Amino acid sequence: MTAAEYKRRRRALARAIGPEGIAIVPAAREVVRNRDVHYPFRQNSDFVYLTGFSEPDAFLVIAPRRKEGEYVLFCRPRDPEREQWDGRRAGVEGATADFGADQAYPLGELDAVMPTLIDGHARLYFPIGVDTALDARVMGWVNRVRANVRAGAVAPETFVTVESLLHEMRLRKSPAEIKQMRRAAEISAAAHRRLMQICEPGMNESRLEAEFHHVCATSGARDQAYSPIIGGGANACILHYVENRAPLRDGDLVLIDAGCELGGYASDITRSFPVNGRFSPPQREIYELVLEAQTAAIDKAKPGNLWNEPHDEAVKVLTKGLVRLGILEGKLAKLIEDEAHKPYYMHRTGHWLGMDVHDVGSYKQHGAWRPFEPGMVLTVEPGLYLSDADAIPAPYRQIGIRIEDDVLITETGNEILSAAAPKDPDAIESLMAG
Ligand code: GLY
Ligand code: MN
Ligand code: MN
Repeated sequence: MTAAEYKRRRRALARAIGPEGIAIVPAAREVVRNRDVHYPFRQNSDFVYLTGFSEPDAFLVIAPRRKEGEYVLFCRPRDPEREQWDGRRAGVEGATADFGADQAYPLGELDAVMPTLIDGHARLYFPIGVDTALDARVMGWVNRVRANVRAGAVAPETFVTVESLLHEMRLRKSPAEIKQMRRAAEISAAAHRRLMQICEPGMNESRLEAEFHHVCATSGARDQAYSPIIGGGANACILHYVENRAPLRDGDLVLIDAGCELGGYASDITRSFPVNGRFSPPQREIYELVLEAQTAAIDKAKPGNLWNEPHDEAVKVLTKGLVRLGILEGKLAKLIEDEAHKPYYMHRTGHWLGMDVHDVGSYKQHGAWRPFEPGMVLTVEPGLYLSDADAIPAPYRQIGIRIEDDVLITETGNEILSAAAPKDPDAIESLMAG
């Protein structure tokens, strides 16, 4: 993202806050994995959305129309010895020179300076209730201002979650964000194609996982948006299966739910295909049903339609299909009303997608499902998970299939960002045969 894009976002937030308000957004902190080893660091999406600053232990303040500048950054100071061990830091010099901050302070001055910034603002926006230590710290700053009201200080009286403003902004993607998400989805789609090409019976799930990482990393996306799910046979029926270490058997399907993160933006794609390259007739029947549900659901993802319409459409198609296959019995309307699909399809048909894989943004407004608008991105991911329950005819048992695409709402309908990953069963078979 360009400096201008970050500036535009900060300006938009400042406008929404108004001159009476002030916003505080903390960066993520490092988390210990064991002793002195940390989990890979991932910046807080709200913080990086506004700053592009990827170091831990920082705070952003937006104080609209403050005369010394409305964008203040607190960060770790330069420290040649620590940087020798742990890596480079921007420092306060870099925060202003390279990240556009109007003013920057070393983190050690946070408690001293923050009350002086808060003073004079009637409304305080911060992520309330996310981190109890932060809640207490912010209230400590506010109480320092309150202690000075007789001397003319103005302490905040209204406290608002900063997410209520930020997440509406993040829900509608800018052209630069769409470009990044399109590229992320293209890289993941190429990785899915590669897995179809190399898969064969006897291979381990972990081999496919390694190949997925390899294709993404060599295409510029070193990070994954979430832990890949690579499940052969019955493992595909475990929704969040991440063990990924079982051998793949001839005659089974394999489900791959994997997507890279590129420049802080997620992709999230699922494909299900036969380990040996040919769908058996029962596998193909179930696959074509899930594909029919997915295609029908994607058609419902367009401006003006409501969030629940793709899900309701998928449920309708799947329920009809389950009756046809002899897995459900009864009248369609009653089966839908009773949610009879739930033992075989227990999740929703999608979620917002963006910087976070399950991205921010509300699904309802004023108590009703919200309408789609151009610039929103969602996943559409129906599935069927047929266990070995008696209700399921023997040929269909232990089949798990999900098909997931990343869908951008456009002015006229939608664009499937992940379209380069084949999902037509004949196209999959011919790619695997090649
Ligand atoms: N990969 C997580 C999901 O599909 O929601
Ligand atoms: Mn998903
Ligand atoms: Mn997924």
